[in-house]
Amino acid sequence: MKHSRLFSTSSRSVLLGLAVLIGGLLTGGAAQAQLLPIEQLGKSIFFDQDLSINRNQSCASCHDPAWGFTGPIESINAAGSVYEGSIPGRFGNRKPPSSAYASRSPILFFIDEKDNNENKTEILFIGGNFWDGRATGEKLGNPAADQAQGPFLNPVEQALPDNACVVHRVCTASYPTNYQDVFGPDDCDIVWPQDIETVCATPGTTVALSEEDRGSVDTAYNSIALAIGRYEDSTEVTAFSSKYDAYLRGEVKLTKQERQGLALFRGKGRCDNCHILDEGPGGEPPLLTDNTYDNLGVPRNPDNPWYTSSFNPDGADWVDAGLGGFLNTRPEYAEFAAENYGKQRVPTLRNVAASPVPGADKAFAHNGYFKSLETIVHFYNTRDLKPACPDPLTPEAAALQADCWPAPEVEDNVNTEELGNLHMTDAQEKAIVAFLATLSDGYTP
Ligand code: HEC
Ligand code: HEC
Repeated sequence: MKHSRLFSTSSRSVLLGLAVLIGGLLTGGAAQAQLLPIEQLGKSIFFDQDLSINRNQSCASCHDPAWGFTGPIESINAAGSVYEGSIPGRFGNRKPPSSAYASRSPILFFIDEKDNNENKTEILFIGGNFWDGRATGEKLGNPAADQAQGPFLNPVEQALPDNACVVHRVCTASYPTNYQDVFGPDDCDIVWPQDIETVCATPGTTVALSEEDRGSVDTAYNSIALAIGRYEDSTEVTAFSSKYDAYLRGEVKLTKQERQGLALFRGKGRCDNCHILDEGPGGEPPLLTDNTYDNLGVPRNPDNPWYTSSFNPDGADWVDAGLGGFLNTRPEYAEFAAENYGKQRVPTLRNVAASPVPGADKAFAHNGYFKSLETIVHFYNTRDLKPACPDPLTPEAAALQADCWPAPEVEDNVNTEELGNLHMTDAQEKAIVAFLATLSDGYTP
């Protein structure tokens, strides 16, 4: 049922309060305000390749602004869709979602929602970052800040062995705005060991520090994550400057096809059940996500290099458990794990069409199974209409050719109420795609 998924007004205001608290300028305007010092610091950190073990990878390597803050390597997008870390040959297991707008997700919480169709209550998890919600926001008060502490130390990403390595490199960097300019000199007043460069270039090591200096490192590491979160929340990243925003402000008209797509997005396509289109109660621009979790029945991506990674103990049997996998790691949530098995976070659709060259290879959904907006929309429309491909490991191009869809990666909890057979024509699918293209930031009339 339309909007049955929407969280209550009270939880909505929690979300909005939070967004204001973390410094979100809830501006509807497209104006590119100058960055605050803390945002500028976060930006320098976001783009600094020195903050990886081989000094060859930054956050932007997997979250490139020109690509809507997602992965820019076409050969990867066209195949396995997961990115290699600083250490060659080490791949992650999921496609990078956009890092823009992620700071507007609330701290993970849940509500009881009445399902009137089935006359039962359902527990609905809302918020957090990552496809599975494990960056909850509980630590630093914002999921995007919690998230930012992960990649630097993740052995399949930037792979630094110790958070002290990140702090050392940030404290000794010369950025336009330095750490000390924003947070003062004390946190960086640390006695670093002579061999710190060698230690930080060696996986699995720890930097030797006094207890007091270790405390300063942990404080600085939190501040670094908060600065990144503030940059991600700034008007440069979470910009609300798309054609659709200009349309909402009455500054521009949509084309006939875009208008048709918008109507289908709300109507027959039911897209805005989850990718919310409406402005917030105070006129806040829409995020195009309700930050809930769902299993769309996306097939496995047979090209995912994780299946053969030495970091993956399950080999080819690995299944992406999504939110359920994370809930299972938390005793207070474990009872809800089974009903959330295979559910992934609803991503924002802002910038989903952004790429520097028209027609460039992109990838969509948590495992990048889909290679174009056309095909993911076609999947929503026809998932339950077409026969199952005989081989569950059929890649997208072959499935389209054989006019079938492979079995879902996770059979449990597949949403059959809101998608699967939408009775849309080819022209209607195309209109939705045309509308999605109005969601890219940086629009000028
Ligand atoms: C090697 C590629 C890679 C690098 C480097 C990387 N990321 Fe990511 N990022 C990913 C992937 C993959 C995910 C999704 C992982 C998951 O859900 O388990 C992700 C998720 C995110 C998200 C969550 C978005 C959402 O809506 O849930 C944010 C925000 C983010 N990254 C920001 C950063 C920042 C900040 C850095 C640098 C400190 C960074 N990333 C470095 C690949 C990367
Ligand atoms: C029931 C909630 C729901 C509905 C309805 C829904 N979506 Fe989604 N959407 C999701 C979830 C959840 C994902 C991530 C799924 C995954 O990765 O397994 C997603 C992913 C996407 C993506 C990929 C984005 C990315 O960054 O990879 C696109 C594009 C998209 N949806 C467009 C649409 C369109 C267009 C419609 C309407 C035809 C629609 N969605 C309807 C929940 C929904």
